[in-house]
Amino acid sequence: MGREVMTAERFTMERLSDPAGFKAQMTRDVRRGLTADKKSIPSIYFYDDHGSELFEEITLLPEYYLTRAETEILEAHANGIMSSVQPDELMEIGAGFARKTRLLLSAMHATGSGSRYVPIDVSDAALKHAGDALTTTYPWLTVDAYVGDFLLDLHRVPHQGRRVVAFLGSTIGNLPPDERGSFLKEVASSLNPGDVFLLGVDLVKDEQAMISAYSDAQGISAQFNKNVLTVINRTLDGDLPLDAFEHETRYNEACSCMEQSLRATRDISASLAAIDLHLEIANGESIHTEFSCKFTSDSISQELIDAGLSVSSVLTDRLDQFALVVAAR
Ligand SMILES: C[S@@+](CC[C@H](N)C(=O)[O-])C[C@H]1O[C@@H](n2cnc3c(N)ncnc32)[C@H](O)[C@@H]1O
Repeated sequence: MGREVMTAERFTMERLSDPAGFKAQMTRDVRRGLTADKKSIPSIYFYDDHGSELFEEITLLPEYYLTRAETEILEAHANGIMSSVQPDELMEIGAGFARKTRLLLSAMHATGSGSRYVPIDVSDAALKHAGDALTTTYPWLTVDAYVGDFLLDLHRVPHQGRRVVAFLGSTIGNLPPDERGSFLKEVASSLNPGDVFLLGVDLVKDEQAMISAYSDAQGISAQFNKNVLTVINRTLDGDLPLDAFEHETRYNEACSCMEQSLRATRDISASLAAIDLHLEIANGESIHTEFSCKFTSDSISQELIDAGLSVSSVLTDRLDQFALVVAAR
């Protein structure tokens, strides 16, 4: 652990928990999730190096409207937001490859604000890629990256001065509905007066458009979904057979969530040797792998108000597909 200076002097990266701690956390989550009556795996485990790359591919797919719509909003509003807040730093939760972030960073520079970018993500490969690329493009930028779990480690990321805290990509929708409130409260309590929270959320829309975004014609979403089994097999010395599962996706109207799962196409007998766990999964049984919850402007505003924030605007793209909520304490 400790702070590592990466390829450029202006880019450092620090692990907030050691790899053994991460494995112990996965052991607990996988044991609990795969031995429950309704099997599930938390979505944090999608994002090893390959999973992060697959997610980047998804963002470029014609069916995946989310990234294009959020980019359109940022192109229209990043300058206005940055000139009114004048932050010393931009912190980003679940930053990934930080491509859309460039719009916020450019606006931060153009409006004479700060020059520090502080991303936190579980994927060290994505952070490394982002930090290298951003410090190359922006010679004025300092990147202090943190590898960690934003559900556990947010309070351990140090701040300096006034901040814009961005949580883009509708990653908030990946939190199970009953966990969102406590996470938003934690974000709210980390904000100081003058700080601004930017939250990107996907909006409820035509069901077929939502389903297509998670089951694209090229099968990249299916590969992304199955990659979680590869991560578990590698980390826990398992033999879950990838070819015995199919990608499933459906819209659950009760929680306004797209749900992804992996459905067994035959009876499966598998084990995770590293944790001495034997699994019997019946033909037709599903392992729930991801929520991608959808919102309305009113529903997300209410969740932010319930978390102790005040909402100053809800910005949408021209087709009302996606929203960027601007909130403060
Ligand atoms: C849906 S992607 C969004 C990436 C990027 N912000 C965007 O808008 O395209 C979710 C990102 O959050 C990260 N992530 C997911 N769960 C996490 C967790 N519990 N802690 C830290 N990072 C997490 C993933 O590695 C990934 O980069």
